[in-house]
Amino acid sequence: MSYFPDSPGQNLHAFAFSHGRAEHSRMSQKPVVIWLTGISASGKSTIADALDVALHKQGRMTAIIDGDSVRGGLCRDLGFTDGDRDENIRRVAEVARLMLDAGLVVIVALISPSSASRHCARSIIGNECFVEVHVDAPLETAEQRDPKGLYKKARAGLIKNFTGIDARYDVPVFPEVHLNTQALSVERSVETILDWLTHNDANS
Ligand code: ADX
Repeated sequence: MSYFPDSPGQNLHAFAFSHGRAEHSRMSQKPVVIWLTGISASGKSTIADALDVALHKQGRMTAIIDGDSVRGGLCRDLGFTDGDRDENIRRVAEVARLMLDAGLVVIVALISPSSASRHCARSIIGNECFVEVHVDAPLETAEQRDPKGLYKKARAGLIKNFTGIDARYDVPVFPEVHLNTQALSVERSVETILDWLTHNDANS
């Protein structure tokens, strides 16, 4: 899969700026991208929000990139075909990388259903700064929650390509963090992520 299908990159010359990720990192905090993946209504945005609040309490500078909000702006031209989702994820990964280079702790909440697109995001961002978190909820539970009424619409055939109904979700095989949201409260989920960061020297 090519993520740069029509790139006119031959005539581009990236300037070697004096201060990049390493310098910004020394200035402030260890930048990292915490990438929350999971089906709709699994709890990604709720956990992103609580994680953001917890990191702020620790004095970290953060940014949140959430699927529903980028799809109203940066990615408003994209739909939910496999190709459009890949492009959505690629753009978000590129933005996350810029934020990372600026020294931020970046929290991304995207369904990001295909393992190939998550792999693409990881390679754009850099393996050492990419923390994949699977926000795991069974389809039945997400469907019961259905806070936006979208599963109901998808079951009625009013929304096509809906993840878990008529579009696939590749379960992450080796995520850095796995959250069983049936067993964990939001607070415990946040603690689990923070513990991982601490034990992997990514929370300093
Ligand atoms: S992704 O697959 O490209 O990563 P993203 O996280 O940006 O998806 O957007 C998902 C949000 O779009 C969902 O939370 C839901 O509100 C909305 N949505 C609208 N149509 C669909 C669809 N067909 N499948 C999944 N989510 C959809």
